Amino acid sequence: MSAISTKLEPLAIHGGTPVRETLLPYGRQSLDDDDIQAVVGVLKSDWLTTGPKVAQFEEAFASRVGARFAVSYSSGTAALHGAAFAANLRPGDEAITTPLTFCATANCVLYQGATPVFADVCEDTLNLDPQQVLRKISSRTKAIIAVDYAGHPSALDELRQVAQANRAVFIEDACHALGAEYRGKCVGSLADMTVFSFHPVKHIATGEGGMVATNDARVAETLKHFRNHGISSEARERQESGQWFYEMVALGFNYRLTDIACALGISQLGKLEVNLGCRREIAAHYARELRDLPVLFPAVRQEINPAWHLYPIRLKLEALSAGRKEIFRALRAENIGVNVHYIPVYRHPYYRERFPPNEGSCPVAERAYEQLISLPMFHSMTASDVEDVSRALHKVLAYYSAASEGARAAEQDGARVRRG
Ligand SMILES: Cc1ncc(COP(=O)(O)O)c(C=O)c1O
Repeated sequence: MSAISTKLEPLAIHGGTPVRETLLPYGRQSLDDDDIQAVVGVLKSDWLTTGPKVAQFEEAFASRVGARFAVSYSSGTAALHGAAFAANLRPGDEAITTPLTFCATANCVLYQGATPVFADVCEDTLNLDPQQVLRKISSRTKAIIAVDYAGHPSALDELRQVAQANRAVFIEDACHALGAEYRGKCVGSLADMTVFSFHPVKHIATGEGGMVATNDARVAETLKHFRNHGISSEARERQESGQWFYEMVALGFNYRLTDIACALGISQLGKLEVNLGCRREIAAHYARELRDLPVLFPAVRQEINPAWHLYPIRLKLEALSAGRKEIFRALRAENIGVNVHYIPVYRHPYYRERFPPNEGSCPVAERAYEQLISLPMFHSMTASDVEDVSRALHKVLAYYSAASEGARAAEQDGARVRRG
Protein backbone atom coordinates (compact mmCIF):
# COMPACT_ATOMS: atom_id res chain seq x y z
CA MET A 1 0.00 0.00 0.00
CA SER A 2 2.68 2.52 1.03
CA ALA A 3 4.75 1.84 -2.13
CA ILE A 4 1.72 2.68 -4.25
CA SER A 5 0.59 5.70 -2.20
CA THR A 6 3.94 7.51 -2.36
CA LYS A 7 3.49 7.86 -6.14
CA LEU A 8 0.00 9.29 -5.79
CA GLU A 9 -0.71 13.01 -5.99
CA PRO A 10 -2.52 14.36 -2.92
CA LEU A 11 -6.15 14.91 -3.77
CA ALA A 12 -7.61 18.43 -3.51
CA ILE A 13 -10.22 17.03 -1.15
CA HIS A 14 -7.33 16.15 1.21
CA GLY A 15 -5.65 19.56 0.88
CA GLY A 16 -3.70 18.95 -2.37
CA THR A 17 -3.67 21.37 -5.31
CA PRO A 18 -6.78 21.07 -7.50
CA VAL A 19 -6.31 20.18 -11.16
CA ARG A 20 -8.04 23.44 -12.15
CA GLU A 21 -8.15 26.81 -10.45
CA THR A 22 -11.75 27.49 -11.42
CA LEU A 23 -14.76 25.22 -11.72
CA LEU A 24 -15.41 23.67 -15.14
CA PRO A 25 -19.22 23.42 -15.34
CA TYR A 26 -20.85 20.23 -16.61
CA GLY A 27 -22.79 22.15 -19.23
CA ARG A 28 -23.28 25.67 -20.53
CA GLN A 29 -24.58 27.63 -23.49
CA SER A 30 -22.47 29.45 -26.07
CA LEU A 31 -23.84 32.59 -27.67
CA ASP A 32 -22.12 34.81 -30.22
CA ASP A 33 -22.76 38.28 -31.67
CA ASP A 34 -25.15 36.92 -34.33
CA ASP A 35 -27.31 35.45 -31.58
CA ILE A 36 -27.29 38.73 -29.70
CA GLN A 37 -28.13 40.74 -32.83
CA ALA A 38 -31.02 38.38 -33.60
CA VAL A 39 -32.50 39.09 -30.16
CA VAL A 40 -31.86 42.84 -30.43
CA GLY A 41 -33.71 42.84 -33.77
CA VAL A 42 -36.81 41.44 -32.08
CA LEU A 43 -36.54 43.85 -29.16
CA LYS A 44 -36.74 46.70 -31.69
CA SER A 45 -39.70 45.16 -33.54
CA ASP A 46 -43.48 45.21 -32.96
CA TRP A 47 -43.75 41.60 -31.79
CA LEU A 48 -42.13 40.41 -28.61
CA THR A 49 -44.44 37.40 -28.48
CA THR A 50 -47.01 35.67 -30.79
CA GLY A 51 -45.21 37.32 -33.73
CA PRO A 52 -43.55 36.12 -36.94
CA LYS A 53 -40.42 34.62 -35.37
CA VAL A 54 -42.47 31.83 -33.81
CA ALA A 55 -43.60 30.29 -37.09
CA GLN A 56 -40.15 30.89 -38.63
CA PHE A 57 -38.45 28.97 -35.82
CA GLU A 58 -41.03 26.18 -35.96
CA GLU A 59 -40.65 25.78 -39.73
CA ALA A 60 -36.85 25.79 -39.61
CA PHE A 61 -36.89 23.30 -36.73
CA ALA A 62 -39.38 20.93 -38.38
CA SER A 63 -37.30 20.94 -41.52
CA ARG A 64 -34.06 20.20 -39.60
CA VAL A 65 -35.52 17.22 -37.73
CA GLY A 66 -37.48 15.89 -40.72
CA ALA A 67 -40.96 16.32 -39.23
CA ARG A 68 -44.03 17.84 -40.95
CA PHE A 69 -44.86 20.06 -37.96
CA ALA A 70 -43.10 21.55 -34.96
CA VAL A 71 -44.96 23.43 -32.23
CA SER A 72 -42.91 25.59 -29.87
CA TYR A 73 -43.43 25.68 -26.11
CA SER A 74 -42.06 27.77 -23.27
CA SER A 75 -39.92 24.83 -22.00
CA GLY A 76 -39.28 21.15 -22.59
CA THR A 77 -41.45 20.47 -19.55
CA ALA A 78 -44.35 22.45 -21.01
CA ALA A 79 -43.80 20.64 -24.33
CA LEU A 80 -44.05 17.29 -22.53
CA HIS A 81 -47.29 18.46 -20.92
CA GLY A 82 -48.59 19.40 -24.37
CA ALA A 83 -47.67 15.93 -25.66
CA ALA A 84 -49.38 14.23 -22.70
CA PHE A 85 -52.51 16.32 -23.38
CA ALA A 86 -52.44 15.56 -27.11
CA ALA A 87 -52.08 11.85 -26.26
CA ASN A 88 -55.37 12.31 -24.40
CA LEU A 89 -53.97 11.01 -21.12
CA ARG A 90 -56.65 11.22 -18.42
CA PRO A 91 -57.27 9.99 -14.89
CA GLY A 92 -57.33 6.18 -14.90
CA ASP A 93 -54.85 5.95 -17.79
CA GLU A 94 -51.26 4.78 -17.47
CA ALA A 95 -48.13 5.84 -19.33
CA ILE A 96 -45.05 3.61 -19.25
CA THR A 97 -41.74 5.39 -18.93
CA THR A 98 -38.18 5.05 -17.65
CA PRO A 99 -37.12 5.86 -14.10
CA LEU A 100 -33.71 7.05 -15.29
CA THR A 101 -34.72 10.52 -16.39
CA PHE A 102 -35.35 14.04 -15.23
CA CYS A 103 -38.60 14.08 -13.25
CA ALA A 104 -40.34 16.23 -15.90
CA THR A 105 -40.75 13.14 -18.12
CA ALA A 106 -42.96 11.39 -15.58
CA ASN A 107 -44.51 14.58 -14.20
CA CYS A 108 -46.26 15.31 -17.50
CA VAL A 109 -48.31 12.16 -16.91
CA LEU A 110 -49.28 13.42 -13.46
CA TYR A 111 -50.26 16.85 -14.84
CA GLN A 112 -52.97 15.03 -16.80
CA GLY A 113 -54.15 13.09 -13.75
CA ALA A 114 -52.85 9.81 -15.21
CA THR A 115 -50.38 7.37 -13.62
CA PRO A 116 -46.76 6.86 -14.63
CA VAL A 117 -45.63 3.22 -14.64
CA PHE A 118 -41.89 2.62 -14.58
CA ALA A 119 -40.19 -0.05 -16.70
CA ASP A 120 -36.50 -0.92 -16.43
CA VAL A 121 -33.78 0.16 -18.85
CA CYS A 122 -31.33 -1.74 -21.09
CA GLU A 123 -27.99 -2.54 -19.47
CA ASP A 124 -25.93 -0.97 -22.29
CA THR A 125 -27.74 2.26 -23.25
CA LEU A 126 -29.77 2.83 -20.06
CA ASN A 127 -32.74 3.55 -22.34
CA LEU A 128 -36.22 2.06 -21.85
CA ASP A 129 -36.07 -1.71 -22.49
CA PRO A 130 -38.86 -2.80 -24.92
CA GLN A 131 -39.05 -6.22 -23.20
CA GLN A 132 -39.61 -4.59 -19.83
CA VAL A 133 -42.22 -2.27 -21.35
CA LEU A 134 -44.12 -5.32 -22.61
CA ARG A 135 -44.23 -6.67 -19.06
CA LYS A 136 -45.84 -3.44 -17.83
CA ILE A 137 -48.52 -3.12 -20.53
CA SER A 138 -52.07 -3.23 -19.18
CA SER A 139 -55.53 -2.39 -20.46
CA ARG A 140 -54.96 1.09 -18.98
CA THR A 141 -51.77 1.81 -20.97
CA LYS A 142 -52.42 4.91 -23.08
CA ALA A 143 -48.87 6.03 -23.85
CA ILE A 144 -45.24 4.95 -23.85
CA ILE A 145 -42.74 7.73 -23.15
CA ALA A 146 -39.15 6.86 -24.05
CA VAL A 147 -36.17 9.05 -23.14
CA ASP A 148 -33.08 9.22 -25.34
CA TYR A 149 -30.77 9.12 -22.35
CA ALA A 150 -27.62 11.26 -22.73
CA GLY A 151 -28.44 11.77 -26.44
CA HIS A 152 -28.50 8.10 -27.53
CA PRO A 153 -31.84 7.37 -29.24
CA SER A 154 -33.96 4.66 -27.63
CA ALA A 155 -34.88 1.40 -29.41
CA LEU A 156 -37.40 3.40 -31.43
CA ASP A 157 -38.54 0.73 -33.90
CA GLU A 158 -39.16 -1.84 -31.18
CA LEU A 159 -40.91 0.63 -28.87
CA ARG A 160 -43.08 1.98 -31.69
CA GLN A 161 -44.14 -1.59 -32.52
CA VAL A 162 -45.05 -2.26 -28.87
CA ALA A 163 -47.02 1.01 -28.77
CA GLN A 164 -48.86 0.27 -32.03
CA ALA A 165 -49.69 -3.29 -31.04
CA ASN A 166 -51.23 -1.97 -27.83
CA ARG A 167 -52.93 1.14 -29.26
CA ALA A 168 -50.74 3.41 -27.18
CA VAL A 169 -49.34 6.77 -28.25
CA PHE A 170 -45.57 6.73 -28.60
CA ILE A 171 -43.91 9.86 -27.20
CA GLU A 172 -40.14 10.28 -27.46
CA ASP A 173 -38.58 12.60 -24.91
CA ALA A 174 -35.63 13.70 -27.04
CA CYS A 175 -34.65 16.58 -24.75
CA HIS A 176 -31.13 15.08 -24.79
CA ALA A 177 -31.09 14.11 -28.43
CA LEU A 178 -31.52 17.03 -30.83
CA GLY A 179 -29.58 16.08 -33.96
CA ALA A 180 -29.14 12.41 -33.01
CA GLU A 181 -29.70 9.77 -35.70
CA TYR A 182 -31.37 6.39 -35.55
CA ARG A 183 -30.88 3.98 -38.46
CA GLY A 184 -29.82 6.93 -40.63
CA LYS A 185 -32.84 9.09 -39.75
CA CYS A 186 -32.88 12.17 -37.60
CA VAL A 187 -34.75 11.97 -34.30
CA GLY A 188 -37.95 14.00 -34.73
CA SER A 189 -40.26 11.98 -36.94
CA LEU A 190 -39.79 8.48 -35.54
CA ALA A 191 -42.39 8.64 -32.75
CA ASP A 192 -45.96 10.01 -32.71
CA MET A 193 -44.58 13.07 -30.92
CA THR A 194 -40.97 13.98 -30.21
CA VAL A 195 -40.18 16.50 -27.50
CA PHE A 196 -37.12 18.77 -27.32
CA SER A 197 -35.68 21.27 -24.82
CA PHE A 198 -33.62 24.41 -25.40
CA HIS A 199 -32.39 24.84 -21.84
CA PRO A 200 -28.88 26.40 -21.77
CA VAL A 201 -27.11 23.04 -21.27
CA LYS A 202 -28.73 21.58 -24.39
CA HIS A 203 -27.53 21.53 -28.02
CA ILE A 204 -29.16 24.87 -28.78
CA ALA A 205 -30.30 27.39 -26.18
CA THR A 206 -33.19 29.84 -26.00
CA GLY A 207 -33.01 30.44 -22.22
CA GLU A 208 -36.07 28.34 -21.54
CA GLY A 209 -37.78 26.71 -24.49
CA GLY A 210 -39.12 23.51 -25.96
CA MET A 211 -40.69 21.99 -29.08
CA VAL A 212 -42.93 19.09 -30.02
CA ALA A 213 -42.37 17.62 -33.49
CA THR A 214 -45.05 15.48 -35.14
CA ASN A 215 -46.18 14.34 -38.58
CA ASP A 216 -49.85 14.46 -37.62
CA ALA A 217 -51.69 17.69 -38.58
CA ARG A 218 -54.46 17.17 -36.00
CA VAL A 219 -52.00 16.57 -33.21
CA ALA A 220 -50.13 19.74 -34.25
CA GLU A 221 -53.39 21.74 -34.05
CA THR A 222 -54.15 20.34 -30.58
CA LEU A 223 -50.62 21.20 -29.46
CA LYS A 224 -51.05 24.77 -30.73
CA HIS A 225 -54.34 25.29 -28.89
CA PHE A 226 -53.05 23.79 -25.69
CA ARG A 227 -50.07 26.15 -25.46
CA ASN A 228 -52.41 29.12 -26.04
CA HIS A 229 -55.06 28.69 -23.28
CA GLY A 230 -56.98 26.22 -25.46
CA ILE A 231 -57.97 29.10 -27.78
CA SER A 232 -58.67 28.20 -31.38
CA SER A 233 -56.92 31.14 -33.08
CA GLU A 234 -53.76 33.12 -32.43
CA ALA A 235 -53.52 36.84 -31.64
CA ARG A 236 -51.57 37.73 -34.78
CA GLU A 237 -54.01 35.86 -37.06
CA ARG A 238 -56.85 37.85 -35.48
CA GLN A 239 -55.01 41.14 -35.80
CA GLU A 240 -54.13 40.48 -39.45
CA SER A 241 -57.69 39.51 -40.36
CA GLY A 242 -59.22 42.38 -38.36
CA GLN A 243 -61.21 39.94 -36.21
CA TRP A 244 -61.72 40.05 -32.46
CA PHE A 245 -63.77 36.86 -32.04
CA TYR A 246 -62.12 33.80 -30.56
CA GLU A 247 -63.25 30.71 -28.70
CA MET A 248 -61.64 28.64 -26.00
CA VAL A 249 -62.15 25.03 -27.04
CA ALA A 250 -60.06 23.23 -24.43
CA LEU A 251 -58.52 23.98 -21.06
CA GLY A 252 -55.01 25.01 -22.06
CA PHE A 253 -52.19 27.06 -20.58
CA ASN A 254 -50.01 29.97 -21.56
CA TYR A 255 -47.03 27.89 -22.67
CA ARG A 256 -46.05 30.17 -25.59
CA LEU A 257 -42.43 30.70 -26.56
CA THR A 258 -41.69 34.41 -27.13
CA ASP A 259 -40.40 35.92 -30.37
CA ILE A 260 -37.29 36.92 -28.41
CA ALA A 261 -36.57 33.26 -27.64
CA CYS A 262 -37.58 32.11 -31.15
CA ALA A 263 -35.19 34.59 -32.79
CA LEU A 264 -32.43 33.20 -30.59
CA GLY A 265 -33.56 29.68 -31.49
CA ILE A 266 -33.36 30.38 -35.24
CA SER A 267 -29.87 31.79 -34.87
CA GLN A 268 -28.75 28.91 -32.63
CA LEU A 269 -30.24 26.30 -34.94
CA GLY A 270 -27.80 27.50 -37.59
CA LYS A 271 -24.99 26.33 -35.29
CA LEU A 272 -26.41 22.91 -34.48
CA GLU A 273 -24.10 20.99 -36.85
CA VAL A 274 -21.00 22.66 -35.43
CA ASN A 275 -22.22 22.08 -31.87
CA LEU A 276 -22.91 18.41 -32.55
CA GLY A 277 -19.50 18.02 -34.19
CA CYS A 278 -17.78 19.49 -31.10
CA ARG A 279 -19.72 17.21 -28.76
CA ARG A 280 -18.84 14.14 -30.84
CA GLU A 281 -15.18 15.11 -30.78
CA ILE A 282 -15.25 15.57 -27.01
CA ALA A 283 -16.85 12.14 -26.59
CA ALA A 284 -14.14 10.56 -28.78
CA HIS A 285 -11.46 12.39 -26.80
CA TYR A 286 -12.88 11.11 -23.48
CA ALA A 287 -13.06 7.55 -24.80
CA ARG A 288 -9.37 7.72 -25.79
CA GLU A 289 -8.11 9.44 -22.65
CA LEU A 290 -10.01 7.37 -20.12
CA ARG A 291 -9.69 3.92 -21.67
CA ASP A 292 -7.40 2.54 -18.94
CA LEU A 293 -9.57 3.60 -16.03
CA PRO A 294 -11.99 1.37 -14.08
CA VAL A 295 -15.05 2.91 -15.73
CA LEU A 296 -17.71 1.85 -18.23
CA PHE A 297 -18.17 4.25 -21.13
CA PRO A 298 -21.60 5.16 -22.50
CA ALA A 299 -22.49 2.50 -25.08
CA VAL A 300 -23.16 3.42 -28.70
CA ARG A 301 -25.21 0.89 -30.64
CA GLN A 302 -24.31 0.28 -34.24
CA GLU A 303 -27.39 1.91 -35.75
CA ILE A 304 -26.96 5.13 -33.76
CA ASN A 305 -25.25 8.47 -34.16
CA PRO A 306 -25.71 10.02 -30.69
CA ALA A 307 -26.05 13.71 -29.93
CA TRP A 308 -24.03 13.57 -26.68
CA HIS A 309 -26.02 15.84 -24.43
CA LEU A 310 -24.28 14.13 -21.50
CA TYR A 311 -21.21 11.96 -21.09
CA PRO A 312 -22.19 9.65 -18.21
CA ILE A 313 -19.55 7.14 -17.18
CA ARG A 314 -20.24 4.26 -14.79
CA LEU A 315 -17.66 3.59 -12.09
CA LYS A 316 -16.52 -0.02 -11.71
CA LEU A 317 -17.06 0.16 -8.00
CA GLU A 318 -15.71 -3.35 -7.40
CA ALA A 319 -12.25 -2.05 -8.42
CA LEU A 320 -12.44 1.03 -6.20
CA SER A 321 -12.21 1.57 -2.46
CA ALA A 322 -14.78 4.40 -2.39
CA GLY A 323 -18.34 4.79 -3.57
CA ARG A 324 -19.70 7.24 -6.12
CA LYS A 325 -20.46 9.84 -3.44
CA GLU A 326 -16.87 10.14 -2.30
CA ILE A 327 -15.42 10.02 -5.82
CA PHE A 328 -17.91 12.68 -6.89
CA ARG A 329 -16.82 14.95 -4.02
CA ALA A 330 -13.16 14.37 -4.84
CA LEU A 331 -13.71 15.37 -8.49
CA ARG A 332 -15.64 18.48 -7.47
CA ALA A 333 -12.74 19.43 -5.18
CA GLU A 334 -10.49 19.21 -8.26
CA ASN A 335 -12.85 21.84 -9.77
CA ILE A 336 -14.42 19.45 -12.26
CA GLY A 337 -18.17 20.13 -12.39
CA VAL A 338 -19.36 16.54 -12.47
CA ASN A 339 -23.04 15.75 -12.02
CA VAL A 340 -25.33 12.74 -11.59
CA HIS A 341 -28.10 11.83 -14.06
CA TYR A 342 -30.42 10.60 -12.55
CA ILE A 343 -31.92 9.62 -9.23
CA PRO A 344 -34.58 7.07 -10.34
CA VAL A 345 -37.76 9.16 -10.48
CA TYR A 346 -39.72 6.91 -8.11
CA ARG A 347 -37.17 7.53 -5.37
CA HIS A 348 -38.14 11.22 -5.13
CA PRO A 349 -40.22 11.87 -2.00
CA TYR A 350 -43.17 13.16 -4.04
CA TYR A 351 -43.42 9.82 -5.81
CA ARG A 352 -42.60 7.69 -2.76
CA GLU A 353 -45.36 9.34 -0.74
CA ARG A 354 -48.06 8.92 -3.38
CA PHE A 355 -47.43 5.66 -5.19
CA PRO A 356 -46.95 2.04 -4.12
CA PRO A 357 -43.26 1.35 -3.45
CA ASN A 358 -41.28 0.86 -6.65
CA GLU A 359 -37.94 0.20 -4.97
CA GLY A 360 -36.29 -2.85 -6.51
CA SER A 361 -38.63 -2.86 -9.51
CA CYS A 362 -36.01 -1.55 -11.97
CA PRO A 363 -32.73 -3.17 -10.85
CA VAL A 364 -30.71 -2.11 -13.90
CA ALA A 365 -31.60 1.56 -13.42
CA GLU A 366 -31.04 1.37 -9.67
CA ARG A 367 -27.61 -0.24 -10.01
CA ALA A 368 -26.59 2.23 -12.71
CA TYR A 369 -27.65 5.13 -10.49
CA GLU A 370 -25.12 4.02 -7.84
CA GLN A 371 -22.32 4.10 -10.43
CA LEU A 372 -23.13 7.08 -12.66
CA ILE A 373 -21.12 10.27 -12.91
CA SER A 374 -21.68 12.73 -15.77
CA LEU A 375 -18.52 14.41 -16.98
CA PRO A 376 -18.60 17.99 -18.30
CA MET A 377 -19.93 18.07 -21.87
CA PHE A 378 -20.71 21.26 -23.76
CA HIS A 379 -19.83 22.35 -27.27
CA SER A 380 -17.47 25.18 -26.29
CA MET A 381 -15.27 22.93 -24.13
CA THR A 382 -11.66 23.21 -25.22
CA ALA A 383 -9.16 20.39 -25.63
CA SER A 384 -7.45 21.65 -22.50
CA ASP A 385 -10.76 21.46 -20.56
CA VAL A 386 -11.13 17.83 -21.68
CA GLU A 387 -7.56 17.14 -20.59
CA ASP A 388 -8.27 18.66 -17.18
CA VAL A 389 -11.20 16.28 -16.74
CA SER A 390 -9.03 13.38 -17.80
CA ARG A 391 -6.19 14.40 -15.43
CA ALA A 392 -8.60 14.77 -12.53
CA LEU A 393 -10.17 11.37 -13.20
CA HIS A 394 -6.77 9.68 -13.47
CA LYS A 395 -5.66 11.37 -10.27
CA VAL A 396 -8.78 10.54 -8.26
CA LEU A 397 -9.32 7.02 -9.57
CA ALA A 398 -5.61 6.15 -9.19
CA TYR A 399 -5.94 7.11 -5.54
CA TYR A 400 -9.03 5.03 -4.93
CA SER A 401 -7.82 2.08 -7.04
CA ALA A 402 -4.50 2.04 -5.19
CA ALA A 403 -6.25 2.27 -1.86
CA SER A 404 -8.42 -0.63 -2.88
CA GLU A 405 -5.39 -2.63 -4.03
CA GLY A 406 -3.77 -1.84 -0.69
CA ALA A 407 -6.88 -2.89 1.20
CA ARG A 408 -7.09 -6.10 -0.81
CA ALA A 409 -3.38 -6.83 -0.21
CA ALA A 410 -3.82 -6.20 3.52
CA GLU A 411 -6.86 -8.48 3.55
CA GLN A 412 -4.90 -11.22 1.75
CA ASP A 413 -1.97 -10.80 4.17
CA GLY A 414 -4.39 -11.03 7.09
CA ALA A 415 -5.93 -14.17 5.63
CA ARG A 416 -2.46 -15.71 5.19
CA VAL A 417 -1.58 -14.84 8.79
CA ARG A 418 -4.90 -16.27 10.02
CA ARG A 419 -4.32 -19.47 8.00
CA GLY A 420 -0.86 -19.59 9.57
C1 LIG B 1 -35.02 14.10 -20.27
C2 LIG B 1 -35.55 15.46 -19.99
N1 LIG B 1 -36.86 15.70 -20.19
C3 LIG B 1 -37.39 16.91 -19.97
C4 LIG B 1 -36.63 17.96 -19.52
C5 LIG B 1 -37.27 19.28 -19.24
O1 LIG B 1 -36.82 20.28 -20.12
P1 LIG B 1 -36.86 21.81 -19.69
O2 LIG B 1 -35.76 22.04 -18.71
O3 LIG B 1 -36.65 22.54 -20.98
O4 LIG B 1 -38.20 22.08 -19.10
C6 LIG B 1 -35.27 17.77 -19.30
C7 LIG B 1 -34.44 18.88 -18.82
O5 LIG B 1 -33.30 18.83 -18.57
C8 LIG B 1 -34.72 16.49 -19.53
O6 LIG B 1 -33.42 16.26 -19.31
